[in-house]
Order: sequence, then C-alpha cells, then structure tokens
Amino acid sequence: MVEKIKTGLNVEDRKAVAQALSRMLADTYAVYLKTHGFHWNVRGPNFSSLHALFMEQYTEMWQAIDDVAERIRSLGELAPQGYGAFGNLSSIKDGDPEGDSQSMLQALTSDHETVIATCREALALAQKAEDEASAGIITDRLEAHEKHAWMLRATLGGK
Ligand SMILES: [Fe+2]
Repeated sequence: MVEKIKTGLNVEDRKAVAQALSRMLADTYAVYLKTHGFHWNVRGPNFSSLHALFMEQYTEMWQAIDDVAERIRSLGELAPQGYGAFGNLSSIKDGDPEGDSQSMLQALTSDHETVIATCREALALAQKAEDEASAGIITDRLEAHEKHAWMLRATLGGK
C-alpha cells in the first residue's frame, strides 16, 4: 500500500509548486547545456577567460539541478527527465555555435533573466503555499542566476 503524504502541505499546493519547480529545472538545464556548448565553441582574443567563466557557471548550474529535482520528488511529484520533457517546459532556445563571443554573452545574459523570471513565479507560489523549504531552494537559485547575469553583463561592459 502506498503511504499518504502528510507533510502539512495540501495536494493542490504541492502540485502547483512542483510544476513551477519543473519549469525552473527545465530552464536551468537549458542554460546549463547552452553554457557548456559555449565553453567549447567560444572563439576570439578573450577565449581563455570566457572558457573559464562559462565552466564556472555551467558547473554551478549542473550541481544545482539535482537539488531542484529532488525537491520536486519531496513534494510527491515526479521530476521531468529527458530533452523532450525539458524542451516542452522551457522557452530557452539552443545556442548558436557559429556566433561570436559578444553574441554568446548577450544570449546567456538574456537566458539568465528568463530563469530569474521563472524563479520569481515559483517563489510567489511557494510563499502562497507557505512552503518554506521550496522557497529556500528557489531563493538560492534566484541569487545564483542574478550573480551569473551580473558577471556576463559586466563582461560585456555593462553594470
Ligand atoms: Fe572543458
């Protein structure tokens, strides 16, 4: 017999927060994959620093997706898996390996802003559900993506 989930959150809230976390997971995976591809394909006089910056960022995201997926499981839902599932949940497009370093930095900055917006939607749902554990994970992701966006923006010469 399957045990009922008695964690103090109602089933509708658990499902709504898990769905929002699934969109966050898919967005993060898409930016992870794009950043790793740019790590391979970036070219130009700043190759070395961009190659290293992209590695730092994709490594951080790679480590973070496990916590997000396992939070979805803790809420009693299944985590999405596979390119097809992630593609359906995220609006982030694949990176262009032919692009120059400037266009790679601009694309990633904009993608992190997309993830940040998804995180804010998830945070609002988690707070409404008084799901502090999910809110904590989402807040950590917000901070990380805002930091990634700042570093990419600053590399482009912006604030
Ligand atoms: Fe590498």
